[in-house]
Amino acid sequence: PDHAIEAVRDWIAQSRRLCVLTGAGVSAESGVPTFRDAQTGYWAQFRAEDMASEPGFRAHPARVWHWYQHRRGLVSAVAPNAAHHALAGFAAQHPGRLTLVTQNVDGLHQRAGSPDVVALHGDLFADQWLDACCPQCTPALQAGQLTATEPPACPYCGNLRRPGVVWFGECLPQAALDAAEVAAQGCDLMLVAGTAGVVYPAAGLVLQARDAGARVVIVNTAPTELDRLADAMLQGAATTVLPALLG
Ligand code: APR
Repeated sequence: PDHAIEAVRDWIAQSRRLCVLTGAGVSAESGVPTFRDAQTGYWAQFRAEDMASEPGFRAHPARVWHWYQHRRGLVSAVAPNAAHHALAGFAAQHPGRLTLVTQNVDGLHQRAGSPDVVALHGDLFADQWLDACCPQCTPALQAGQLTATEPPACPYCGNLRRPGVVWFGECLPQAALDAAEVAAQGCDLMLVAGTAGVVYPAAGLVLQARDAGARVVIVNTAPTELDRLADAMLQGAATTVLPALLG
């Protein structure tokens, strides 16, 4: 309802430090599958522990590598949407007022021009070594192998390259988590868009913001686990609501 949008627009106008936490729902309308949407979510098709965990990768490296190659191809072929552009546009208009923290690894916020994106769960297009390196394990090794359906491997020690994303059971990059916590605890308004709010520590940032006295606004097409923390819950698509709030 428009009066809710107007109220939140006023909160944003009054806000000096806005923290935005995004999830897969802000990329959904670009054509990137989410994880938990009932029919289309990745976790409706695969088991997360098979496809997004170190044991899953060690058990079936080709299967996991192939899925990430598939996701890289899909994301490379889509464009940022109006939600990504609304966030980038606001940041350009109001330098230093908005900190964008994302759980997404698709790089669409960055491609839309958002600066200083805090990427909690890594980067879909980055790789790293699975195990400790031998002297010959250099990233250059994989240069010509990126299109392989098998993960590139060091010919000397067999070390495998793995996607540079945070898998279940793994720690988040400490610098990103620290930056996200500083932003959540220092903001006066926390805008949560397109996330089911079920994965921690990302979801915990919302409670940290609330405990620090921030207002909480949720933008989602459906109810979320975080709604109980919200001062306002705006039901609608990110590409509709975010431009209405930030434009
Ligand atoms: N606009 C706004 N919200 C949407 C839209 C849309 N067009 N489409 C879907 N959503 C909402 C869904 O209702 C859901 O609440 O986006 C949310 C997507 O939730 P998930 O698929 O669980 O994605 P996310 O919350 O980002 O997952 C967090 O879990 O699998 C791990 O590491 C992965 O970063 C991911 C983390």
